[in-house]
Amino acid sequence: MSNIVLEAENLCKFWGGLKALDEFSIKFYDKQIHSIVGPNGAGKSTLLNLLSGAYQATHGVIIYNGKPITSAKSYEFCRSGIGRSFQKTNIFHTQTCLENCCIAAQQQIGGSFKFFQNRNQNKFIIKAALSALEKVGLTERAKTKASQISYGEQRQLEIAMVLATNPKVILLDEPMAGMGHEESQTIVKLLMTLKSQYCIVLVEHDMEAVFELSDLMTVMVDGQHLITDSVDNIRSNPLVQDAYLGNDDEVF
Ligand SMILES: Nc1ncnc2c1ncn2[C@@H]1O[C@H](COP(=O)(O)OP(=O)(O)O)[C@@H](O)[C@H]1O
Ligand SMILES: [Mg+2]
Repeated sequence: MSNIVLEAENLCKFWGGLKALDEFSIKFYDKQIHSIVGPNGAGKSTLLNLLSGAYQATHGVIIYNGKPITSAKSYEFCRSGIGRSFQKTNIFHTQTCLENCCIAAQQQIGGSFKFFQNRNQNKFIIKAALSALEKVGLTERAKTKASQISYGEQRQLEIAMVLATNPKVILLDEPMAGMGHEESQTIVKLLMTLKSQYCIVLVEHDMEAVFELSDLMTVMVDGQHLITDSVDNIRSNPLVQDAYLGNDDEVF
């Protein structure tokens, strides 16, 4: 059994009277892909925002490698090894793919990255950025502006930007959104290769990809944890079909 890397206990996020996340508890294991699914507005992005320190929890606890980090700042989450991608693309279009990864890698150290200054000092960062590009298969795009690569490649670049921060945990918010089947398959293959090195939390609507990739799945509805189980058990669970799919069993 793999180790627990990241945990949430009774995590809550309230916006006024709206309970975006309500007493949510979950455990994420090393070298696994754990997918989070649920209807729009279920609280999936909110969960990732809390787990990456982008939002402060209303209450509840986040534990990373056995230690509470609930009140840490978002850069401290990043530097301690929790990397995340965003639901909407988050790249700098006027910068090259390499520069985008350098900017991301800089978060690991602090300060701001100046590409044409302190080249030697930046050696470490450039190495991390090149390695991240290689992992996602974008080495040949290193010097190409992000605006000039395809949408699918832009989403690969976003994953490279997470990898460039040297994470242990990767939180991915809909990395296949807006992609055709072929492009999604590229990401599926990529995540399969990354699984042996990272703890991956995947929020994704592409059910085919989720079923193919997941070691564990969690279904959430209205900010609440409905069930966590294996893909096979989730697919055959009538409670899940009712709550998530409204009896449209074609999706499963
Ligand atoms: N910054 C915010 N301010 C107010 N309400 C928010 C904010 N972010 C999310 N919400 C609300 O929280 C709920 C969960 O949203 P979200 O986590 O984005 O859901 P999902 O990612 O599952 O679609 C929604 O009702 C959404 O409108
Ligand atoms: Mg979302």
